[in-house]
Amino acid sequence: MVPEDSLALTLLVENNPKIESFYMLNLSTWLGLEIVTKKKAEYAIALLQTEAANIDLIIVRSKIEKEESAKLIIEYLAKRLLTIPVIEIGPGKEIPGAFAHIPNSLLLRPLIQTTAKALKITAKEMADKVVPNYFPIPILYFKVLRRSVCPVYSQDIEDPAVFVIRFTKLKEFTESEVNSLVQEGITHLYVEKLHRLDFVNNVTNELITELEALDLSVDEQLTAGDKSVEHLTQKLLSIGITEETVTLAKKNMATLKRTVKTNPKLAKLVERLVSNKTSYVYRHTQILAYVGSHIVRNIDWGSPDQEEKIMFIAFFHDIALSDDTQAMIASTLELRKANFSPEVKTLVEKHAQVSAEFVTKFPHAPMGADQIIRQHHGTLNGIGFSEHWGNNVSPMSVVFIVAEEFTRIVLKTEGAPLNRNDMLRELKETFPTSRFQKVIELLESVTF
Ligand SMILES: [Fe+2]
Ligand SMILES: [Fe+2]
Repeated sequence: MVPEDSLALTLLVENNPKIESFYMLNLSTWLGLEIVTKKKAEYAIALLQTEAANIDLIIVRSKIEKEESAKLIIEYLAKRLLTIPVIEIGPGKEIPGAFAHIPNSLLLRPLIQTTAKALKITAKEMADKVVPNYFPIPILYFKVLRRSVCPVYSQDIEDPAVFVIRFTKLKEFTESEVNSLVQEGITHLYVEKLHRLDFVNNVTNELITELEALDLSVDEQLTAGDKSVEHLTQKLLSIGITEETVTLAKKNMATLKRTVKTNPKLAKLVERLVSNKTSYVYRHTQILAYVGSHIVRNIDWGSPDQEEKIMFIAFFHDIALSDDTQAMIASTLELRKANFSPEVKTLVEKHAQVSAEFVTKFPHAPMGADQIIRQHHGTLNGIGFSEHWGNNVSPMSVVFIVAEEFTRIVLKTEGAPLNRNDMLRELKETFPTSRFQKVIELLESVTF
């Protein structure tokens, strides 16, 4: 274990400033690490020449531009007979001699667990760590935020026991307000101990959402997409439709479309989403967009506009729901059995209506998208779940309902090989009327 007064440092070698930034925040919050950063192996090695004795762990990106960063560092350590563990992150081949390799560098849980293992920090030590009541956050992190998910304080200069509130929860602040605090000499702001993980998670999602797809592997893009949808949902529920959330939603929809385009086979997409451990909501949205757009492309009234619309609906239809367990509910019986508070039960019951209301406020939403969202569980007013799939819903709603049910069946298999015949039989039994059967027949020819 790391003694309290140890000068031991973790050396992080990473050239993406956003990733560097949330790695530092997470590693210091979860594990209490002191971190020194370098932009490439060359500079890291220069540091190791004098400071190796104080470095406990090295976390290095496999490749930084043309440099084989992890390999260079591992070779350097071997030559000097240094035994500092090396965690390699990012896509690439695992280098022999690395302590561990985490190919998806945006998955923080494995990173934190592996780091703890490398430093021999146990779960008990993590849990027992004494955390001050006001938890310090370097002020620079506030430059990437426009609002905080919890109240933010500064320490009184005269009396360090006193903390003064600076930003209230969710209220917008500007970069110049942060800059003027920096000018006052403030280096850290503080959040209450109980809020620190929420705060860190929020900053992390903010930074992950801003990453450019170009710099990421396909798996990392999926993780970034997942985090970004989670982030958007939380924002929509707390601040509603604003310029900020609209921009974020547009970015999310563009990512959704790209994923559907770059995975021309459903089975492959499902496999990737499941093995990537993305959330249910995200998988559901991606598969739904895939299936929905394939049906619309092949139906006689289909058009690029309709395809655009179904993608939009796939993205927004459950936006009022905040987690996976809520999104998995698809019938009155499941809702009754679910272990939710009365408020959550009401929310799930009305989510189609609430999501539709969101969409009416969204600028340039495709015409009629709100109506289909309202009907996506078969009731006309968006409240409750229909057991009888009647003839009163619109044609696009029929497509969407079939696509959504198909998605549910696909997700039930949890990545096991998809059996096309079983799936289609199940669908036909659920929707016996002819309007639905026609769409199901179409599905037969397009999804495999
Ligand atoms: Fe849904
Ligand atoms: Fe829904």
